[in-house]
Amino acid sequence: MAFTTRHLAEWKAKGERFTMLTAYDYSWARLVSAAGVPVILVGDSLGQVVLGYKNTLPVTMADMVHHTAAVVRGAPESLVVADMPFLSYQVSTTDAIRNAGRLIQEGGAQAVKLEGGEDMAEVVAALVRADIAVMGHIGLTPQAVHQLGGYRTQAVDEAGQQRLLADARALEQAGVFALVLEKVPAAAAAAVTQALAIPTIGCGAGPACDGQVLVTYDLLGVFSDYKPSFVKRYAELGKTAVEAMSAFCEEVRNGIFPTDGGKTP
Ligand code: KIV
Repeated sequence: MAFTTRHLAEWKAKGERFTMLTAYDYSWARLVSAAGVPVILVGDSLGQVVLGYKNTLPVTMADMVHHTAAVVRGAPESLVVADMPFLSYQVSTTDAIRNAGRLIQEGGAQAVKLEGGEDMAEVVAALVRADIAVMGHIGLTPQAVHQLGGYRTQAVDEAGQQRLLADARALEQAGVFALVLEKVPAAAAAAVTQALAIPTIGCGAGPACDGQVLVTYDLLGVFSDYKPSFVKRYAELGKTAVEAMSAFCEEVRNGIFPTDGGKTP
């Protein structure tokens, strides 16, 4: 079944929870899709988990278009959302429309995601007027890591929670079809989820959100430089991969492969 932005609205209306996971290439997109995950995010977390940068800031439009196209080829039935990288939408609305348009036209994504609240409402409205589906992202916004002074929990006091709610309302008004809430207290996420007609997607934001998102490499134990506190590891694929590759090395050293197990032409 082909998933669209409309399904998310229907799931919210019916109180059905849903998932979004990240993918950055063809093979992983196929696996995420085979697991029945309806929404795939080509996140700019690509910067850390695939490209080895310290944060998301060096990720470029060229990176995002390239990886989005690979994901779309691997998961043609999924709703593929592509992150707009740092400075691809903050400089001008014209830039934002052109860059979002590239992710749709060249990358093949159905929607884009951008970070920021009320300040970004005008940009979101312009993208929506250009018929581009937009997912919002507030709370901890990793592209603002230096301004926020690190990856801390956001909206921890009353004023922060009011701001979160105001940001959420402004983005809904501007036309986002869904909203990621990253690293905010569960109560704050619950209040936003209740206040909005559009679905919220929690990333370290407690159980009340309509959907949940994680970075796939975190969930599977592939990326091990650090683990956000809210991540649950469902597998240790990194360890399994290292064991398998070590076994291959051992068998080659001992003359077992390719004579045993591998087919020799
Ligand atoms: O880039 C990303 O993977 C994200 C998710 C963590 C929400 O934005």
